[in-house]
Amino acid sequence: MLEDLKNLQNNALAEIGKAHDHDAFEAVRVKYLGRSGELGKISEKLGSLSQGERRVLGQAVNEFKRVVSGALVSKESEYVRSSGPRVDLTLPGIPPKAGHLHPLTQFMRRVVGIFERMGYEVLQGPEVETEEYNFDLLNVPKDHPARDMHDTFWLRQKVSNSKSEIRNPKLLLRTHTSSVQLRAMLAPKTDESLARGRRGETRKSPVRLIVPGRVFRHEATDAGHETTFYQCEGLVIDKGIRVTDLFGTLKTLLQEIFGSDVKMRIRPHYYPFVEPGFDIDIACLICHGRGCSVCKQSGWLEMLGSGMVHPQVLRNMKIDPRIYSGFAFGLGIDRFMMLYYGVNDVRLSYSGDLRFVRQF
Ligand code: FA5
Repeated sequence: MLEDLKNLQNNALAEIGKAHDHDAFEAVRVKYLGRSGELGKISEKLGSLSQGERRVLGQAVNEFKRVVSGALVSKESEYVRSSGPRVDLTLPGIPPKAGHLHPLTQFMRRVVGIFERMGYEVLQGPEVETEEYNFDLLNVPKDHPARDMHDTFWLRQKVSNSKSEIRNPKLLLRTHTSSVQLRAMLAPKTDESLARGRRGETRKSPVRLIVPGRVFRHEATDAGHETTFYQCEGLVIDKGIRVTDLFGTLKTLLQEIFGSDVKMRIRPHYYPFVEPGFDIDIACLICHGRGCSVCKQSGWLEMLGSGMVHPQVLRNMKIDPRIYSGFAFGLGIDRFMMLYYGVNDVRLSYSGDLRFVRQF
C-alpha cells in the first residue's frame, strides 16, 4: 500500500507540473485530496490494518497531503505571479490633490497674526450694515459723496411710512470695516451682540482691536480697484495716545511684511472720522517707483488710511475726548497681497482662474 501511495504521489506531482490554469489545479486537488479522491480511498483502508501498519500508513498519508498540497500552492502562486497584472506594492502611491488657502486668506491671516502679536483683539461684524454704523456715527456728513448711490451698494427695502423706517434703518453693503469699531464700542464684548449692534453697555478703554473683513464699493474696476475687496481696520484708545504711536505701529506693520528697507510716505488726507487724517503710501514694489498701471504711473501706492480718532467719534463711542485719545487705521488687504507677491491686477484674485490661485 505504501508503494501505491508513492506511485500516486508521483502521478499527482506530474499532473501538477502540467497544470496551467485554476481549473486544472482544482481538478488535481479534487482528484487526489478531495473527500472521495484517491487519498480518501486509501485512508478508508486504515481501519482494517493492525495498529503498527496503521501508524506507518497514517504517517505516509500525512506526508502525501503535505507534499501534494505544498506543490499545488507553489505552482498556483507561480501561475498568479506570471499571468496577473504586475503590481509593485513598494512603489509610492498617487498623492491626492490637496487644495490650499486663497492668497488673500493667507495674507489676511498674516496681517492678523502681526497685530495679535502686538496684543490686538480681533473682531468681526456684519457685511450688511446700517447707515448709522457705516456713516452717521463715524461723522460722515449727510452730503458726503460716499453716501451717493454711485459709490455705495444700498439695499432695497420696503418702507411704507415713517414709523417702519425707524424699524428698518437704511441698509447697505458696508464700504469699510470701521463700522464694526463703533459696534464694538457700543455693544458688549461678544460677536453676537456686535452683529445686533445693541446700544447701552459700552466697552471700557484701553482698547486695541482690529477688524478684518470684506467690504463693497460701487467702483469702476481697474488694475488697482475692485468692487469687493478686503480690509483690516484698527482702533486704539487710551489715555495719552499720540500720532507718533500711530506712525510707529504702521511702520512696524509695513516692515514686518515688506522688510526693514520699505519706503513709507505719509500724506495729510481728509477722513471725516479722524482729525488729523493721513494716507500712508509705500514705494511701488511692482515697478520700484518707476511708474506702472498698478500705481497709476506715480511710483507710490496708497496702502492705508489713518488718523487720530475725531473727538465727535469718541463721543459717539461714549468715550470722553478730554480724557482719552486714540488712533484708527484701515488697510487694503488686496493691495498688500498684490505688492507682496508682485501681482499686477487686483481683479485676478476674484477671477476664479485656477492658474492664478495655484501659484501661491
Ligand atoms: C477707508 O476705508 C477708511 N475707513 C480707512 C481709515 C480708517 C482711515 C481709519 C482713517 C482712519 P479708504 O477708502 O482709503 O479708507 O480705503 C482703505 C484702503 O482700502 C486703501 O488704502 C486701499 O488699500 C484699499 N482700497 C480702497 N478702495 C479699494 C478698491 N476699490 N479695491 C481694492 N482696494 C481698495
